[in-house]
Amino acid sequence: MADSHFSVNLGLFFTGFLFPVLVSSVGINYGQIANNLPSPEHVVPLVKAIGANRVKLYDADPKVLKAFANTGVEFIVGLGNEYLSKMTDPANAQAWVKSNVQAYLPATKITSIAVGNEVLTFNDTSLSGCLLPAMQSVHTALVNLKLDSQVTVTTAHSVAILQSSYPPSTGAFRQDLKGCISPILDFLSKTCSPFLINAYPFFAYKADPKQVSLDFVLFQPNAGIVDPGNNLHYDNMLFAQIDAVYAALASLGYKKLPVQISETGWPSKGDENEVGASPENAKKYNGNLLKLINQKKGTPARPNSDLNIFVFAMFNENMKPGPTSERNYGLFKPDGTPAYGLGFSGIAVSSGNSTSSGSSSPKTDGPSIYLSPPANSSSGYLAISSSTVSFRSH
Ligand SMILES: *[C@@H]1O[C@H](CO)[C@@H](O)[C@H](O)[C@H]1NC(C)=O
Ligand SMILES: *[C@@H]1O[C@H](CO)[C@@H](O)[C@H](O)[C@H]1NC(C)=O
Ligand SMILES: *[C@@H]1O[C@H](CO)[C@@H](O)[C@H](O)[C@H]1NC(C)=O
Repeated sequence: MADSHFSVNLGLFFTGFLFPVLVSSVGINYGQIANNLPSPEHVVPLVKAIGANRVKLYDADPKVLKAFANTGVEFIVGLGNEYLSKMTDPANAQAWVKSNVQAYLPATKITSIAVGNEVLTFNDTSLSGCLLPAMQSVHTALVNLKLDSQVTVTTAHSVAILQSSYPPSTGAFRQDLKGCISPILDFLSKTCSPFLINAYPFFAYKADPKQVSLDFVLFQPNAGIVDPGNNLHYDNMLFAQIDAVYAALASLGYKKLPVQISETGWPSKGDENEVGASPENAKKYNGNLLKLINQKKGTPARPNSDLNIFVFAMFNENMKPGPTSERNYGLFKPDGTPAYGLGFSGIAVSSGNSTSSGSSSPKTDGPSIYLSPPANSSSGYLAISSSTVSFRSH
């Protein structure tokens, strides 16, 4: 019976020791704004340990793309905001695609290129003006190289592009951005590419912890809310945010555009004024989220669409600027041990010494990984990664 099968597996998932974990279709963001991360070869088994089959990068780090060759893991590679104006030139775009995408195919399964991150909410009109032309140049390069049927071109937005998101049925884009968003949606629709959104219920909670229910943002049992616009019932904020995006897309005539959550997560540590940032809450958010993804159900407004979610992030990133939370979104610490107990990871970081520092210290015959000392993070190609990752501020 399906139900008991599920609960058995779930038990294993949360106590931990099996490999691989059954979670399906999980994506993970692999940010590298740090000087102490393990080398990419050592990250491959960690990605597998959390059951992720999709990885999103903020650049096209050749070391990562090589390390993941022939692993079956799918990649979204990124082109940082500082490259947008350059990429509006088709020759530059073609050169970039050749050396950063084509060179790794088909061994590394690059399926998408995210051009820019949260560009429209920087309110920088000259940057925003480059976005669609850059996406078009990159797409044209893919067409020229006959890669357009296997690699899509998109861009990731912040939920702050929404003017209205609550109740979800009233979801609408910021009025001043509509002129910019519509042609991008048209491009995505014509090229069969997904709409990417970064969504952090943490920010809503942090901004107003007295009004926002912690259970509602952490996917814990709660009464939830009913959307008076359509009578749909919501018991978590992430689903409400996703459906607000669907409503905003529908209001511009793009009902069928697939939505992917390119980032969501919860920090395990924050500054004193960052209410809610704790290992307990991060564990609840990400643990409950992984459970939901595994149930293969959609949101109330799109019950039949798979959740397509990239958790943020693989590692704590010690060189990110901003509040303490920014450096503490990782599921893993840089040494490869779990940042908090989700149950899945002690296995992956054993160095032959069963007293590993994870929350669980399983004795295992599983993969034994020796995590090397801090890697030299300069990757020697277009150095895209620094300063481009969003601060996800609303
Ligand atoms: C961008 O502009 C919008 C609308 O005017 C405003 O609400 C928002 O705070 C601005 N964001 C930033 C980062 O300046
Ligand atoms: C395992 O780690 C512990 C604590 O770091 C250390 O005291 C012990 O000597 C290690 N054992 C082996 C076999 O390396
Ligand atoms: C990284 O490697 C480069 C080239 O080998 C070297 O010049 C640089 O000093 C190294 N940086 C660090 C932080 O070790």
